[in-house]
Amino acid sequence: MAYDIEQIRRDFPILEREVNRRKLVYFDSGATAQKPQRVIEATDRLMRESNANIHRGVHHLSGVMTEMYEEARERVRKFIGAQHREEVIFTAGATASINLVAYAWSSRFLREGDNVVVSEMEHHSNIVPWQLACERHGAELRVLPFDDRGELMMDKLGELIDERTRLVAVTEASNTLGTMPDLEPIIAKAHAVGAVVMVDGCQGIVHGGGNVAERGYDFYAFSGHKLYGPTGIGVLYGRKELLEAMPPFMGGGDMVDKVTFAKTTYAPLPLKYEAGTSNFIGAVGLGEAIEYVESIGMETIEVYEQELLEYMTEQLSTIEDLKIYGTAERKCPLVCFTIEGTHPYDVGMILDKLGVAIRTGHHCAEPVMTHFGVTGMCRASIGMYNTKEEVDALVKGVERAVMMLK
Ligand code: ALA
Repeated sequence: MAYDIEQIRRDFPILEREVNRRKLVYFDSGATAQKPQRVIEATDRLMRESNANIHRGVHHLSGVMTEMYEEARERVRKFIGAQHREEVIFTAGATASINLVAYAWSSRFLREGDNVVVSEMEHHSNIVPWQLACERHGAELRVLPFDDRGELMMDKLGELIDERTRLVAVTEASNTLGTMPDLEPIIAKAHAVGAVVMVDGCQGIVHGGGNVAERGYDFYAFSGHKLYGPTGIGVLYGRKELLEAMPPFMGGGDMVDKVTFAKTTYAPLPLKYEAGTSNFIGAVGLGEAIEYVESIGMETIEVYEQELLEYMTEQLSTIEDLKIYGTAERKCPLVCFTIEGTHPYDVGMILDKLGVAIRTGHHCAEPVMTHFGVTGMCRASIGMYNTKEEVDALVKGVERAVMMLK
């Protein structure tokens, strides 16, 4: 099917707006993606027509909303390739999902003298929760390094993962280097010693990630807002046996079976991990976003974005003194770069004046900056709605910034 970019752009109303009297060119979808009209309309309609708390009422609207919430769960289940609906937990976002596992799983399975392996290219959400867990339980945090192209050094797996490894935390797609590592050898090695694998799908879910059961992920986390859905909603996938064996994380309404002052019993999965009023509007909005991208086809989107990535890489490479970080074989569509003699913030500010939005700074991945000895980078991340003309506008803007700053 042909990629109807004009129609896709019309689906995202924000792309019509101007910033600094220039047509917006948005290359920050890696931080948060824009929302299609149908997600905006669906969430708006829910608040106008069906708002009522889920799982709690006998009245009509509560039933309607509960049904839609559970339908959204089923949509997510299919989208990520999970086997059971109980394995799909709605959370506030990927960070909340990873923290849930780092707290609840660790309290049951992590002991003094054990170790947790994280990759060097993780963003903070898949580092800090494990650091905290290791501190709490007297475990060691080990780091799987990457080379200068941004490929994980798989030959180190043998020395890092041993019989005391309990968990390996790794990304499906790095938010700075773009690397989409081959997770198969990591999962195989972890499973061979009885460890579990937490896969961060923040960027990956938008670019061919998921397929959790087939790929043997034990845990998987992502946020709705990077997948063209609302903010404040995310997903934790966990293998049923693991989620069942773990204690609850947060206590409160909806996650209980029977509460007495002497003893409380808990609701079965998935509600065991959904304490309090869930973001049901966000969940339905996420379901809508999934339907939207599926209506175009994830693979179709991927092919289009990869072409754009190639073009962006080529064009940016023509700029003198511009250095690209992350040249791995498989990359998600983003380019991180610096230009000798300029500061990323200055480049970002000048681009903004031209209506071009990129991200600057450490991208919540300081260890990656440390690896390359820089304090920050510029990042242009591609969404399904970007075009070659926009890449040209970015490149022109960067050239202008270089002229002004050097
Ligand atoms: N982790 C998000 C990013 O990569 C916020 O920008």
